[in-house]
Amino acid sequence: MLLKGKKALIMGVANKRSIAWGIAEAFHREGAELAFTYQNERLRENLDELLDTIGGRAGFPTFPGDVTSEEQLDAVFGGLRDRWGALDAVAHCIAYADRDDLTRPLHEVSRDGYALAMNVSAYSLLAIARRAARLMSAGGSIFTLTYNAVERVVPGYNIMAVAKAALETEVRYLASELGPGAVRVNAISAGPLKTLAGSAVKGISRLRDVTEETAPLRRNITIDDVGDVAVFLASDLSRAVTGNTIFVDSGFHVMGMASLPATS
Ligand SMILES: NC(=O)c1ccc[n+]([C@@H]2O[C@H](COP(=O)([O-])OP(=O)(O)OC[C@H]3O[C@@H](n4cnc5c(N)ncnc54)[C@H](O)[C@@H]3O)[C@@H](O)[C@H]2O)c1
Repeated sequence: MLLKGKKALIMGVANKRSIAWGIAEAFHREGAELAFTYQNERLRENLDELLDTIGGRAGFPTFPGDVTSEEQLDAVFGGLRDRWGALDAVAHCIAYADRDDLTRPLHEVSRDGYALAMNVSAYSLLAIARRAARLMSAGGSIFTLTYNAVERVVPGYNIMAVAKAALETEVRYLASELGPGAVRVNAISAGPLKTLAGSAVKGISRLRDVTEETAPLRRNITIDDVGDVAVFLASDLSRAVTGNTIFVDSGFHVMGMASLPATS
């Protein structure tokens, strides 16, 4: 029960394959009190059905939380303040780019497509962190999800790699700005997973094959692998960890020849 007594907001459950759902299950197992946001009414139904599998939807506050809406974000954190008074952890598991902008070469991305991807996938962390920090007067943990296409070129990741670069930089600046108030900010860099967002990346199956063939641990990751690291980040075990990107990728990022299958 590493998270007993902690109050956590989980943002980004779309379905049972979502990384956010892996985090929710792990947090629930460890005794956290949970609240959730959903992007729209269709996804609310999915979320409610999932909540029924961990004790029933009635036990969890849920809020509409389209991150492009300042009003909805105000209502989320206002609602949490009224309900809980304080907050210990936020899981930001949100990203979006138009499929067309993901598939075309980066130098062909439209101005609007660029702005949309940055708004949803990177600016949202800032909008959430400033509201969350106000509820974390006793300290807290905010973390987000990134992918290693920031450091190296992964064909097909294009505009999302640029958004993740901004996101990772935000993590470091937020860690510096919020650290004096004992609010920690970190990122988890996850290996490829066939979620809704992951499936929008052309070549995700190949990425998973290469991970299995060449990553040090010779296997793909699961949302449970991410959930357990998220428990560490939300718990007091990580009390001196901030501004970090923790890789949950079977070690794939350390390989210099990772794009080639291992030879004997
Ligand atoms: N799947 C992968 O291979 C992988 C790898 C590394 C990092 N990530 C990151 O993990 C995070 C979670 O993605 P996932 O793979 O679980 O996919 P997912 O599709 O299950 O989750 C993405 C979530 O973003 C939400 N979202 C999109 N636009 C939104 C908006 N305007 N307002 C509020 N919510 C919005 C969706 O509703 C969805 O719940 C993302 O940041 C993604 O980039 C994914």
